[in-house]
Amino acid sequence: MEVFATIEELKSAVRAWRREGQVIGFVPTMGNLHDGHLSLINVARSRADRVVASIFVNPLQFGEGEDFSSYPRTEDRDKTLLEENGCDALFMPAVRELYPERGMPVTIVEVPELSNILCGAHRPGHFRGVATVVAKLFNLVEPDLAVFGEKDYQQLVVIRRMVEDLCFPVEIVGAPTGREDDGLAMSSRNQYLTESERRTAPALHRELARAAGAIADGEQDFGKICDRSLAALWEEGLKPDYFEIRRASDLAVAGEEDRHLVVLAAVRLGRARLIDNERIDLINRN
Ligand code: PAJ
Repeated sequence: MEVFATIEELKSAVRAWRREGQVIGFVPTMGNLHDGHLSLINVARSRADRVVASIFVNPLQFGEGEDFSSYPRTEDRDKTLLEENGCDALFMPAVRELYPERGMPVTIVEVPELSNILCGAHRPGHFRGVATVVAKLFNLVEPDLAVFGEKDYQQLVVIRRMVEDLCFPVEIVGAPTGREDDGLAMSSRNQYLTESERRTAPALHRELARAAGAIADGEQDFGKICDRSLAALWEEGLKPDYFEIRRASDLAVAGEEDRHLVVLAAVRLGRARLIDNERIDLINRN
């Protein structure tokens, strides 16, 4: 695996592959890789001739008081894992390489309607930071396809919208959420949990699955379903930011006529903020 710190090196390697007619798959990350990330690499490998990953802890998507400086950085281990999983190139730029102007971009990319709801309402500026860095990375790597985890469902919807609106010539591929045995979605931030918080954390997925089950069973009062789960989460000792049922395609508030839904939730637990979601497709209903 080749490792590049500069835009110039990255571009010349990827351009050479492209000239040979190879299909390029891209997996952007912030590092501290776990099996969820590696499953994305494997999806990219199954779809592309060459897989490029990036590791960049993007200051622009962290709010004040968030964990930018303490975000776990495990570069040597990450490099080994990527290499073992068949990644061909790793782009690992310094902040000044991507944002030469005072470490911040002057131009930003934003999908306002999708960025100020759900997690965006609790993390102002977060999705603007994500969209801006992903747009920039797409322009540098020029991938044919890019793989994103469904674990960060709102992020996936924001990226799909940005790609469509700005005509990026890239296919966005969503990949299923990697989970621990007890259902907890894998996340770099799970390390912030104490032992007892870790035992509490699976309640988040349990409530999402319970709500999804209620909808699949025909329960139509979405407000009631969410209230019940919010109460259960508080009861378990988790502090929910939100628990909502939305339309899967665009995160609009779901109505009885919608068939493709997603239940999304975010909770605070000790030092960690955990997010997760569960999809429901009501295919056999009139
Ligand atoms: P990061 O949190 O490192 O995640 C990188 C990619 O891995 C994202 O597409 C995310 O959805 C996916 N991912 C994380 N946990 C997962 C899990 N348990 N199962 C499956 N996929 C999972 O998301 C970001 O970085 C950043 O916002 C980024 C897109 C890189 C822009 O800075």
